[in-house]
Amino acid sequence: MTSPNQHWNKIFSTKTDPELGWYESDASQTVKFLDLIPQREISAVFLAGAGTSMLVDELLDREHKLILNDISDEALNKLRNRIGVHDRLTWLHHDISKPLPDNTPQSDIWIDRAVLHFLLEEADIQGYFSNLHSAIRPGGYALLAEFSTTGAPKCAGLELHRYSVEEMSERMGAGFELVKHEAYTFINPFGDQRPYIYALYKKTLLDKLPHSEHRTD
Ligand SMILES: C[S@@+](CC[C@H](N)C(=O)[O-])C[C@H]1O[C@@H](n2cnc3c(N)ncnc32)[C@H](O)[C@@H]1O
Repeated sequence: MTSPNQHWNKIFSTKTDPELGWYESDASQTVKFLDLIPQREISAVFLAGAGTSMLVDELLDREHKLILNDISDEALNKLRNRIGVHDRLTWLHHDISKPLPDNTPQSDIWIDRAVLHFLLEEADIQGYFSNLHSAIRPGGYALLAEFSTTGAPKCAGLELHRYSVEEMSERMGAGFELVKHEAYTFINPFGDQRPYIYALYKKTLLDKLPHSEHRTD
């Protein structure tokens, strides 16, 4: 049976970027949401399932520190060959549904375009959100961009769990406030419509735990 790492490695080793169904030469839809955040509030970005996204180049130009995560070492190698070596980069070859390494630093923003929707098992989805919750500093942000409930049922040959903003917000939990969301139809390189839901959240400064969990007596 093919592992997720093998599945994605095969895609990244046999296709050029413009042959990928999710390829976006222009990251302006994501940048539009980033521009809602005071730029002084972003220094470190966690990019979940970065793939070979052109957003990486844009974030480097903006002088952010980046944690570049992917389950595919092939994708990370292609990305490294394109962007080269920078001292502001941390490479993280890791399944984002599994606990992050203990030494993972907190980030100011978590960005995910088209990654979460590949997680189908409830334990994996919960593992993803547990990572997201702990990886963002208080007052930081999360931007999720996933296939919407009206979107295609499959991508990259895999079944998807498609999202409404209501489900995203419920899974983000009380410690995150929805800043803005938008339905956005991405036209993929083959001219097909791919409806996404984009949602930006801000992490509250204090953990909103039930009162009893704050008690120290
Ligand atoms: C559809 S592509 C999107 C890539 C990139 N975010 C973009 O917008 O161009 C999905 C990416 O998620 C990665 N991926 C899939 N499952 C993952 C997982 N469990 N953990 C980390 N990365 C994963 C894939 O290797 C691939 O790079």
